[in-house]
Amino acid sequence: MAEDLTVTRMGYGAMQLAGPHVFGPPADRDAAVAVLREAVALGITHIDTADFYGPHVTNQIIKEALHPYPDSLHIVTKVGALRDAEGNWPQALAPEQLRQAVFDNLDHLGLDALDVVNLRVGGLDRPTPGSIAEPFTVLAQLQQEGLIKHLGLSTVTAEQIAEAQSIAPIVCVQNFYNIANRADDELIDSLAAQSIAYVPYFPLGGFSPLQSDKLRSVATRLNATPMAVALAWLLQRSPNILLIPGTSSVAHLRDNVTGAMLTLSKDELTELNSVAS
Ligand SMILES: NC(=O)c1ccc[n+]([C@@H]2O[C@H](COP(=O)([O-])OP(=O)(O)OC[C@H]3O[C@@H](n4cnc5c(N)ncnc54)[C@H](OP(=O)(O)O)[C@@H]3O)[C@@H](O)[C@H]2O)c1
Repeated sequence: MAEDLTVTRMGYGAMQLAGPHVFGPPADRDAAVAVLREAVALGITHIDTADFYGPHVTNQIIKEALHPYPDSLHIVTKVGALRDAEGNWPQALAPEQLRQAVFDNLDHLGLDALDVVNLRVGGLDRPTPGSIAEPFTVLAQLQQEGLIKHLGLSTVTAEQIAEAQSIAPIVCVQNFYNIANRADDELIDSLAAQSIAYVPYFPLGGFSPLQSDKLRSVATRLNATPMAVALAWLLQRSPNILLIPGTSSVAHLRDNVTGAMLTLSKDELTELNSVAS
């Protein structure tokens, strides 16, 4: 993502480590700790999180499992949202909310500076258009103060990315994208041309796991799982794509790391390109 920020293309998304609906503690905290330790043991150097997962729970488990962190490990967090009592994800983009969120992340992760902070702007599955100059400037100031090393954006439009880049450089964009939801195809290519990482969230469909006959049929022919094919397709889609599939299971984590390495032929890629249509 940047010279001091080299990560494995296979990362891990920690959202599934909180309790049901990303609220409260997980039923089995030891199992959550085991997943994180296995991720690092498998060589993963990129973990995605947010202090509003739980809230606070995911970051606290990451700290318990992995602190003091290996030098190679990069934890990417995001700010700009909260959880409310109904389980919604309202925006929290006011300057004081953003500052507090950065301090909460530092505290709960046990860090002096955050490797990457994404400004999360839109809703759970789509951007909310409009200026992001004010909140992004707050993060740029926190970067100047040394509390954040690199900046990124999440759930944003191409226009919002351009606006942010006129304020400070970004290293990554994290938006909703997978083999069946390809609204960002053009954006991915334009970010690749700028050497900016694109990190799709819900790579396996998130709360609604991917369901596709075409995906299943290719997977069956390759003696692989649909999840493995979906991850391998993303890695072959563009060199700037980094993966952060989420799981609360060590077995699924291992499957995902192995499965993503599957090589898809040109014909298989062509066939899979029509999953979205
Ligand atoms: N920026 C944002 O607004 C935003 C929004 C959502 C998510 N995110 C980030 O993106 C990451 C990835 O998204 P996600 O975790 O929501 O969705 P995801 O990676 O698309 O899918 C996770 C779901 O797939 C299941 N799964 C994972 N591997 C599997 C396997 N090998 N076989 C069968 N099922 C499998 C998981 O269940 P098990 O636990 O049973 O494995 C979980 O239910 C999150 O962890 C989070 O860090 C960011």
